[in-house]
Amino acid sequence: MPAPSDFTRTLAQLASKVEVRLAAQLDACAGRGADRLLAAMRHAVLNGGKRFRPFLVIETAALFGVTSEAALEAATAIEYVHCYSLVHDDLPSMDDDDLRRGQPTVHVAFDEATAVLAGDALQTMAFEVLASVRNHDDPAVRADLLLELATASGLMGMAGGQMLDLEAEAAQAKDIDVQRVQSMKTGALIKAAVAMGAILGHARQAERDALTIYSENLGLAFQISDDILDVTGDAATVGKATGKDSGANKATFVSQLGLDGARAKLHQTENEALAALEQFGNRAGTLRNAMAFMSSRKS
Ligand code: IPE
Ligand code: IPE
Ligand code: MG
Ligand code: MG
Ligand code: MG
Repeated sequence: MPAPSDFTRTLAQLASKVEVRLAAQLDACAGRGADRLLAAMRHAVLNGGKRFRPFLVIETAALFGVTSEAALEAATAIEYVHCYSLVHDDLPSMDDDDLRRGQPTVHVAFDEATAVLAGDALQTMAFEVLASVRNHDDPAVRADLLLELATASGLMGMAGGQMLDLEAEAAQAKDIDVQRVQSMKTGALIKAAVAMGAILGHARQAERDALTIYSENLGLAFQISDDILDVTGDAATVGKATGKDSGANKATFVSQLGLDGARAKLHQTENEALAALEQFGNRAGTLRNAMAFMSSRKS
């Protein structure tokens, strides 16, 4: 298995491809009025995220021989939903954060109302991209991708999870099922990214089932490592404020299990994810490394 730095390089290379497409899509929206809203959307998107969800769409599709070019539109769609979720997550009425990806958050750089609207418009942009024939020439594939992303983003997924996350702030730690909150607020989009790759690749049911187990564990590991970074990371490296979760009484894996307990759980999820990839053999090398990246990531 290559060193994590090799994986970081692979991720960064794919991220720049994704970045070029995101910029082109946003550029194509220029001159339609509401320039301030478009500027806020650009600020929210073109600011150096890891592009981990697009990476998962592309690398899962690649398992089935789909080129990165053919998976790129679907990959950008999920990044729009993710960026919208971050803009809203940072609002004063939610986590009240000033720093995101090393830059002022959208409501700080613009204003709160503009940030709400930028999130709204980014969300619909995602579905515009998926519905377009530029995404895929088969309408059935487009419909499957739309359904997957919509389901993962809404009541039963990310938005629902964000609600549970906020409600948990006021509850007693022992009453909170932190894994359920995680599986919705973060896990749903990670799972959808992998499922979208499988849809593009016309994966068989057994393959989809294995990828579901992989992505559930990967999503879990992703939030555990995010919670660990809030405690162990520094804002300059992580690109967002750290040390905030405990002050805000957030229900996190660290608050429930302690730092060592969270690290042990991360290790356990890693083993389960890797076992699920066995049937793909060497083809799944990059997806394996994505899992290993969770225990070493610094941002
Ligand atoms: C952060 O997501 C928010 C969570 C879901 C925990 P990422 O760590 O993927 O953030 P970016 O996109 O790289 O900034
Ligand atoms: C947010 O989780 C998950 C989203 C749906 C945006 P966090 O609140 O822990 O994410 P960060 O730490 O602000 O990136
Ligand atoms: Mg939050
Ligand atoms: Mg937050
Ligand atoms: Mg966090």
